[in-house]
Amino acid sequence: MFLNIVRKLRDGLPLWALTRKGRWIRREYWQFGQDQRSFVFMSIARFLHINRPVPGYYFEFGCNEANTMRKAWDHFQHLFDFTYVGFDSFEGLPEIAEVDQQPIWEKGKLAFAEERFIKRVLDHGMPVDKLMAVKGFYDASLTADLKASLLPTKAAVIYIDCDLYVSTVPVLEWIVDFLQVGTVIVFDDWYCFHGDPQRGEQLAWNEFMQRHPELRFSEFVRTNEAASFIFVGHQ
Ligand SMILES: C[S@@+](CC[C@H](N)C(=O)[O-])C[C@H]1O[C@@H](n2cnc3c(N)ncnc32)[C@H](O)[C@@H]1O
Repeated sequence: MFLNIVRKLRDGLPLWALTRKGRWIRREYWQFGQDQRSFVFMSIARFLHINRPVPGYYFEFGCNEANTMRKAWDHFQHLFDFTYVGFDSFEGLPEIAEVDQQPIWEKGKLAFAEERFIKRVLDHGMPVDKLMAVKGFYDASLTADLKASLLPTKAAVIYIDCDLYVSTVPVLEWIVDFLQVGTVIVFDDWYCFHGDPQRGEQLAWNEFMQRHPELRFSEFVRTNEAASFIFVGHQ
């Protein structure tokens, strides 16, 4: 009898709701991060709508549990006719290179199966013909053939959420041909690695800017975690 009550409580209530700490982590701490992301997506929606038309793709590099893909759909579906493309190994992080060593990163961490990702996004309301998933590690999956199959349509939004320097480098090189005036690039992990500009997404971006002095960007919104830039054209 007692065990049945405990089981019912457990099945009906998520585990985090059982302690004060759990409730704070979920309702205040985790929710704060989600609200910051919503701010970024709504800022992009306003920017692209005011500067319309900026047609094309919503690209997301780092899809995991579909939190940001669903946010993208929530914020963009009523204003724009994007095709949503999620790029991920769906096997988690690659081997952690020397340059990306930090205790929180481990090979295989953040693995989330492709079918589960797709189901989660479709269950959220995105029509199946609006979603594409590209499986594989970026150094192998971001090929010239894939690029040719997606062009000439350009990207409206490029959301980079793959944590590591080594993962961000091939992404930035591959997206150059998808830039159009108004494309917004977001780095979700800008302040990882203690915010060090010589590590992580910041290092990849700084090197990319040096390799491509012909590309002009304007700084856009930032949060405690993310930074974003607007492509404004060629020199
Ligand atoms: C922090 S998670 C993304 C979270 C996701 N945007 C969300 O909101 O649920 C990082 C993702 O990047 C992927 N990833 C990191 N490096 C990668 C690489 N080199 N190739 C492919 N996927 C990679 C991981 O598999 C993981 O799913």
